[in-house]
Amino acid sequence: MDLKDKRILLVIGGGIAAYKSLDLIRRLRERGAKVRAILTAGGAEFITPLSVAAISGERCFTELFSHQDEFDIGHIRLSREADLIVVAPATADLIAKMAQGITNDLATAVLLATDERVLIAPAMNPMMWNHPATKRNFAQLSADGIVSVGPNAGEMAERGENGVGRMAEPLEIVAAIEGLLNEMPAPDALRGTRMLVTSGPTREPIDPVRYISNRSSGRQGHAVARAAAAAGAEVTLVSGPVEIPDPSGVKTIHVETAAEMLSAAQAALPVDVAVCAAAVADWRVDAVANEKVKKTGSRAPTLSFVENPDILATLSHGKKRPRLVVGFAAETEKLLEHAREKLLRKGCDWIVANDVSPKSGTFGGRNNQVHLVTSGGVESWPVLSKEAVADGLVRRIASTLNEARA
Ligand code: C5P
Repeated sequence: MDLKDKRILLVIGGGIAAYKSLDLIRRLRERGAKVRAILTAGGAEFITPLSVAAISGERCFTELFSHQDEFDIGHIRLSREADLIVVAPATADLIAKMAQGITNDLATAVLLATDERVLIAPAMNPMMWNHPATKRNFAQLSADGIVSVGPNAGEMAERGENGVGRMAEPLEIVAAIEGLLNEMPAPDALRGTRMLVTSGPTREPIDPVRYISNRSSGRQGHAVARAAAAAGAEVTLVSGPVEIPDPSGVKTIHVETAAEMLSAAQAALPVDVAVCAAAVADWRVDAVANEKVKKTGSRAPTLSFVENPDILATLSHGKKRPRLVVGFAAETEKLLEHAREKLLRKGCDWIVANDVSPKSGTFGGRNNQVHLVTSGGVESWPVLSKEAVADGLVRRIASTLNEARA
């Protein structure tokens, strides 16, 4: 893929992985991108402004309160004149500041002043990466629509330390940049469009303390909701219980059961587009016990189930049918065969089929490989982050609505 004339603003944080950022600049320029770099004070402890300038072919920006820097270009223009901002290495400190909106240097001022997409490549010691504070901050960044690549598992710079925390390799970062820039919808692509998204699992009670659910994280559905909102749509997200925060700019309604999800979805109608990404439980327990079910000697209890309403099929066949209804098909085998069959059975327009077998790492993971199945055929997309899949889907939705209007 080509990055010809794409403008990348690279923020280099203070970690040992900063040396790899020089290679990243080189790889991006080889592909035709124009790279401007901001080196934080921490970053400058590892590499020098001179080497950044020499490799990027541009001056290296370092200070917020520099007369020269602000006179020449200024932090607002720096952020506006980029197609994408990349933070590599994204240290625990930068991630925390970004999550809180703290700004005390040029890099953080630019990150707060931007409405462009931001990609971060976290790099830190595994203990720092696994710390609950970093997890909280990172989850907040995802909810704000910030996309990440890595960190990878492996050996750390500290001798003998191993774990997750290594910055993604330059070529992996380049691939993530290409995925994002090529899938990104225009900021007004869905202006004036109303959209409903379902996301996450449902939770079907057995008694007041127990339930049946599934491993859906809600990441893909939430990413679709956020991407649609970023493209100007008015989005209602109906979410089952998930651990990720509500996406920014989206009206989020929290539900537990399939029945609650269906009523919330119907209450959001009419909409132009519905995307059903929720992993709805197919069955619910027939007779939910009012009190906690007790152990009764030797006999284990037997549960009997009734089928849940199919939200996707109900929306597809309903009176207020959205113009475009998109379902997901999470399969562990015979992916496309099952997806085509689902398209017909559910009456939706598109099925986004993905492999969720344990080897794929999709459930709960950050990447996804999908096939877009429509009545016209199948389009197979490469492995992308869930955010890039969401961007690609939103772009396709926008172009389909525009074609229909024309
Ligand atoms: O039949 P299956 O569950 O594999 O279909 C998946 C698609 O149907 C997803 O889009 C999911 O959100 C939707 N679905 C639904 N209501 C159900 C079951 C599935 O909306 N009860």
